Amino acid sequence: MHDQVLILDFGSQYTQLIARRIREQGVYCEIHPCTRLAPPRGADVPALRGIILSGGPSSLSDADAPPFDPAWLDQGVPVLGVCYGMYLVAHHNGGEVRGGGSHREYGAADLETIGEDALFDGIPGTSPVWMSHGDSVTRVPQGFTTVARTASCPIAAISNPARRQWGIQFHPEVTHSRDGVQILRNFIFGICHARADWSMGGFVDEQVDRIRAQVGETGEVICALSGGVDSSVAAAILHRAIGKRLHCIFVDNGLLRMGERESVRAEFADFDLTVVDATERFLSALHGVTDPERKRKIIGEQFIRVFEAESHRFEHARWLAQGTLYPDVIESVSFKGPSATIKSHHNVGGLPDDMKLSLIEPLRELFKDEVRVLGKTLGLSDERVWRQPFPGPGLAVRCLGELTAARLEVLRQADAIVDEEIRAAGLYRDIWQSFAVLLPVRSVGVMGDSRTYEEACAIRAVHSTDGMTASVAPIPMELLTKIASRITNSVRGINRVVYDLSSKPPGTIEWE
Ligand code: XMP
Repeated sequence: MHDQVLILDFGSQYTQLIARRIREQGVYCEIHPCTRLAPPRGADVPALRGIILSGGPSSLSDADAPPFDPAWLDQGVPVLGVCYGMYLVAHHNGGEVRGGGSHREYGAADLETIGEDALFDGIPGTSPVWMSHGDSVTRVPQGFTTVARTASCPIAAISNPARRQWGIQFHPEVTHSRDGVQILRNFIFGICHARADWSMGGFVDEQVDRIRAQVGETGEVICALSGGVDSSVAAAILHRAIGKRLHCIFVDNGLLRMGERESVRAEFADFDLTVVDATERFLSALHGVTDPERKRKIIGEQFIRVFEAESHRFEHARWLAQGTLYPDVIESVSFKGPSATIKSHHNVGGLPDDMKLSLIEPLRELFKDEVRVLGKTLGLSDERVWRQPFPGPGLAVRCLGELTAARLEVLRQADAIVDEEIRAAGLYRDIWQSFAVLLPVRSVGVMGDSRTYEEACAIRAVHSTDGMTASVAPIPMELLTKIASRITNSVRGINRVVYDLSSKPPGTIEWE
């Protein structure tokens, strides 16, 4: 069992970042909703080394402030309250927290430490930190001392080493807090004495054992392999555990990027892989459909039908593997109910109940960057583990208007050029997604001596961390014009290229 730091989430946008920073230090860390009750007094939680109370958007005095079980403060392990978490530490120990007016502070500030404290070991007397708060601690609880301040926040950190509780007003997890990682290290190692025993190599061994124990000596597992990072890594770890008892199904719906099917075949050559060519089926179901939501719905339904039919061939399979990641798991336990950020994306989650398959989700404890490291540990190619996200409905949501084999091929060719040029310029990994969109808009052009009347193509490239918000990637003009000229010169059917300058919100990343 790994030593563990537990984070209680009060809704801050940075909560996941705290968990990642701690895992980067090799310490296992989990996020739980703030509604979770503390274990009963006297219950032994052997691996728990420390608790972090996250920040959150609420005021302590809000009528709908998130719930908190104060018994978390009496678990006999150190507690660090960050921002909103600091108010909880202060308030439940008898201090005072006030909101509004002059207490607000957003942005960078210089933190000045006062005296010596284990939390600030090795931190210089002043250090830039990131502040984002509306309330402040205005009276320090008995037994606590103020150990840091900023120009506008006289109580920026409080400490009670005897009770092993700390509170900090700033956010150590964001990069703007220069010494933030050191402060977190001081907490998890210097104060909590957690062991750094969380590594991907160890994770593979544990998961392999766990999967073998779960499915038994003869159990068989089905996996919908899309070729994306998550399903590929999930398949790779299952393959490591049970070899050919893992049956992968790859559905070519005719909406894939250029070379996708071949690349999956090549990468997973040693796997029991069924490649289903369902192009005809999907395209005829989509015939004449232009409404984006209907397209998605049809694709989702067809996928389930194809997958179900194929999976019946594996009559002994009792398990379905899915590449669910930790952020999906945490979002679904958020204290305000499933967060508005969750999309009804088409995936195998909608399989009919009568398939009677139990889920196996080997990645559900991992963040995306950990999944990539795991993929490399399992021997997947760089190309596979670093690929940009690709939506389940594929090129359908990038081919506006009617989906025909011919229009999809035009888009596929344009998209391949965008992909090739972005990679060649060394921008591929920095950009969240970059792709072409085919627009059902025809305009007049001239080529050689003749007039053309063809469709337009948009180039979309965005930066994002989770797809929920996005900003336009500032691709150099020379590169954009090079891409545009390659597309208009070599792709028959496109005579004009435009660059999409919309951020999300108000735009979405995909056009449909
Ligand atoms: P939007 O277009 O909503 O997309 O800004 C946000 C992120 O989600 C991806 N996306 C999907 N992924 N099935 C998926 O698996 C879908 O139906 C789907 N729709 C959008 C999109 O590519 C972007 O990364």
